[in-house]
Amino acid sequence: MTKQPHIAGNQPIPVEVEEGKMYWWCACGLSKRQPFCDGSHKGTEFTPQGWEAPKTGKVFFCACKRTGKSPMCDGSHNAL
Ligand code: FES
Repeated sequence: MTKQPHIAGNQPIPVEVEEGKMYWWCACGLSKRQPFCDGSHKGTEFTPQGWEAPKTGKVFFCACKRTGKSPMCDGSHNAL
């Protein structure tokens, strides 16, 4: 059975990203540097998700870790 990730926040986290740069989104919810991985997933069944920015600009990363469109917010936090 897959465990649910920890809920790191109930709002998406806005980040200015750079086109072509790789970002490692925390999928376990335990990182202290949300929305990104800090290695805290060690020992859990979760691993970070790599995401390459398609263009420069502001995006909203999921913090509740319940999104269906990871690593981006899809509004799932509204149902928690
Ligand atoms: Fe959460 Fe790495 S700290 S996936």
